[in-house]
Amino acid sequence: MSFEIQSINTEDKAVFYAELAQQARGLLHGEHDRIANAANFAALVWHALPRINWCGFYFFDGRELVVGPFQGKPACVRIALGRGVCGTAAATRETQLVVDVNEFDGHIACDAASRSEVVVPLVIDGELLGVWDVDSPEAGRFDDQDRIGMELICDVFLQALSRPANTEAA
Ligand code: SME
Repeated sequence: MSFEIQSINTEDKAVFYAELAQQARGLLHGEHDRIANAANFAALVWHALPRINWCGFYFFDGRELVVGPFQGKPACVRIALGRGVCGTAAATRETQLVVDVNEFDGHIACDAASRSEVVVPLVIDGELLGVWDVDSPEAGRFDDQDRIGMELICDVFLQALSRPANTEAA
């Protein structure tokens, strides 16, 4: 299988994320494996989204967050719920939009270059699956439109994981 990442040439963030969501749907279509989809999803966003230095997943193992598929420099492996931006998103189940990481009390600096960050909690049927984290070396890189866009593409990721009921045992 080969998948061509289409470059998205637009300044309009709503259009950008709608197109990115469409590409993610195509990329994940028909596959339900969490690690496979997470790896491809991170690679897609890494190549499509300008001015970022890390993007990837932390999955909840029942106790804490453990790093999953990502793109960028090697990252901290485990993050306790409530700690850092990721742990806060997981504990509150609310997207964290951090305009300047230096202003976020308890921010965990995996890559010293990161200046802004957005973290979306991933919840399926009320259960915490983990978080999706994107970092940028530019302060103020992400705004509310990025938050909405990230939540949109994360929905595509979550929907791809759910197997239709009639193939549950397949
Ligand atoms: N900055 C995050 C840690 C994860 S790395 O950015 C990859 C945090 O404060 O939770």
